[in-house]
Amino acid sequence: MNHLIAPSILAADFANLQRDIELINNSEADWVHVDIMDGVFVPNISFGFPVVKAVNKHAKKPLDVHLMIVEPDRYLKNFKEAGAAGITVHYEVCPNLHRTIQYIKELGCRAGVALNPHTPVALLEDIIADLDMVLIMSVNPGFGGQRFIEHTYKKLKDIKALSGRHNPGLLIEVDGGVDEKNIAKLVEAGANVLVAGNSVFSAADPAAAIAYLKKPVASPGL
Ligand code: DX5
Ligand code: ZN
Repeated sequence: MNHLIAPSILAADFANLQRDIELINNSEADWVHVDIMDGVFVPNISFGFPVVKAVNKHAKKPLDVHLMIVEPDRYLKNFKEAGAAGITVHYEVCPNLHRTIQYIKELGCRAGVALNPHTPVALLEDIIADLDMVLIMSVNPGFGGQRFIEHTYKKLKDIKALSGRHNPGLLIEVDGGVDEKNIAKLVEAGANVLVAGNSVFSAADPAAAIAYLKKPVASPGL
């Protein structure tokens, strides 16, 4: 499959959110990436259910909700009701991850697990068959516009190899510092869903930036 592009609305203009959602609607983007931050798991607070609902009212593409919050189980149903098509929780805050994943699936959402830059891919070995998606963080979560961490390529190759053994249809998302310079190498390393915040919304022409990121990469795979 060609890779998917998920622009992150964390980098959108919150005073013109409807305009920026419509920009995504009219672009080649596949999903809308929605970052939820609680000020506890990460040192920043983004927005909550009313904003997600408002985004969903205008979005014509699936909402890819990335929960950077502690105790995510408490809020999964609320995010489903707010319009989430997919929900990704962080490995680092889920002591009963298998139960959390089953719950997300019971709600009818695509279930994802995110790994911080320091969290080894190998920790997913006994859960990977149950997942729809793994999100590899390529920055420390909490802020847009940070510098891409180069070690991400190795983690993508590792998760691609693990998915080959246990879950060949796995979606592999990479989030943080994705731009027109590193996208080909990321896809070659195994990423098939690419989140892009600042490289889209800081561009002079965001729709053109999305189209550029969406261009097929010559030789994906390991
Ligand atoms: C960071 C968020 C990202 C962020 C990416 O914690 O999870 O989704 O919006 O922004 P850029 O692409 O600007 O690094
Ligand atoms: Zn994110």
